[in-house]
Amino acid sequence: MTENSGGTCLIVHPVFSREVTGGEQVSSSRDVESMISEVVGLAAAIYLEVIEVIPANVRKISAGHFLGKGTRESIAETVEEVSPTVVIVNATLSPVQQRNLEREWNAKVIDRTGLILEIFGERAQTAEGKMQVELAALTYQRSRLVRSWTHLERQRGGAGFLGGPGETQIELDRRIIDDKIIALKSQLEHVRKTRDLQRKSRERVPYPVVALVGYTNAGKSTLFNKLTGAEVFAKDLLFATLDPTMRRLKLPKGRDVILSDTVGFISDLPTHLIAAFRATLEQVQYADVILHVRDISSPETEAQREDVVTILKDIGVDYDTDDRVIEVLNKIDLCEDRHWLREPGLKGRQIPVSAVTGEGLEALLESIEGRLTCHYKQVTIDLDSSNGKAFAWLHRHASVLDKKEDGDHIHLTVSIDEGEYQKYLGLFGPISA
Ligand code: GTP
Repeated sequence: MTENSGGTCLIVHPVFSREVTGGEQVSSSRDVESMISEVVGLAAAIYLEVIEVIPANVRKISAGHFLGKGTRESIAETVEEVSPTVVIVNATLSPVQQRNLEREWNAKVIDRTGLILEIFGERAQTAEGKMQVELAALTYQRSRLVRSWTHLERQRGGAGFLGGPGETQIELDRRIIDDKIIALKSQLEHVRKTRDLQRKSRERVPYPVVALVGYTNAGKSTLFNKLTGAEVFAKDLLFATLDPTMRRLKLPKGRDVILSDTVGFISDLPTHLIAAFRATLEQVQYADVILHVRDISSPETEAQREDVVTILKDIGVDYDTDDRVIEVLNKIDLCEDRHWLREPGLKGRQIPVSAVTGEGLEALLESIEGRLTCHYKQVTIDLDSSNGKAFAWLHRHASVLDKKEDGDHIHLTVSIDEGEYQKYLGLFGPISA
């Protein structure tokens, strides 16, 4: 889909009454306004122009249509009036509900899962990410087919002998989808293996990786672009094989790092999409620094933080103790009350910034640098000048601060990560030649 061809949409946002939620005011802890602004952002992410958002009160979920009759009828009128490309219902619809609404409104209807799948499809960059999304999409599609088929059978009274083209077609579609799922799973396995190899080769890239994570709309892409400028190192051979969401960034003291963007978090992510989403976060596990970008001006900022912490913990990042994590408190330009910025209570790992005005970015870069060097030590290594292998290895894995030649010997002063230093000793033996 290109920037201008996304089409238009109507968004129906169900607001549940206490009867539906068992006493809770709404189905989610998030307030209606931020849920609506999130879904509008999601639609915009796939270039849909939002014509109107219709909050729809739901007193009782209708098994066949999700929404009540009166609500459906009034939405039908709006649909007829504005003819949107698609109607988004910001909830999880059963296949039957989706189909019935499509018939009643005479328009294409997608639910929240369908919308998120579209976004993942749009954003997935790596081969594995794309496959994970396709797998999730096929599984979603398959459940729709099977369930609508069961529904048809129930309508026919379960006699089964009528058969008919509809059923055959669905069976056939189901088989095609099953075959595709099997093929995809085996391709995924293959990609995972090669990815391990790629990661190993990437580990040899002498630049640390700084990964950006955070909620959708937190400002990751804005920060990514602001920090790296418009330069894309597409022609740089070293990076040609890397993801387009990765760019090189120079830190104040001259050190290069790779900045890597990820897909944004989305609230109430449907469970069967979590695997696809996690695949997009894969590089975070192996990052040297993790920048958790937060929209500090959002009323949902704390709830969003908790969600991110949970998922990061799921992928093996122990958020509270992992010293790779920096919390980037973004959008401070939107905060009217800013006295908290000067409070000593602001934890050492939290850096207030504005990706738009640039405020705080220097402190952020210094903080990244600090994280990277805290495990680094400075050592002097004497090498036989014929030992080109060790010399090249050091150039790839450490920063060479000083080099003196003395006859057959080279004295190198390097800044090197403790782990890399141990590797060096394992490969080339004691440091003095
Ligand atoms: P996804 O790509 O959906 O994950 O979102 P993202 O986290 O990459 O957010 P993005 O950079 O697209 O920013 C979302 C919106 O917030 C945009 O309209 C930005 O202009 C705005 N924004 C980002 N950073 C700031 C900031 O520091 N201040 C202000 N005022 N707006 C910001």
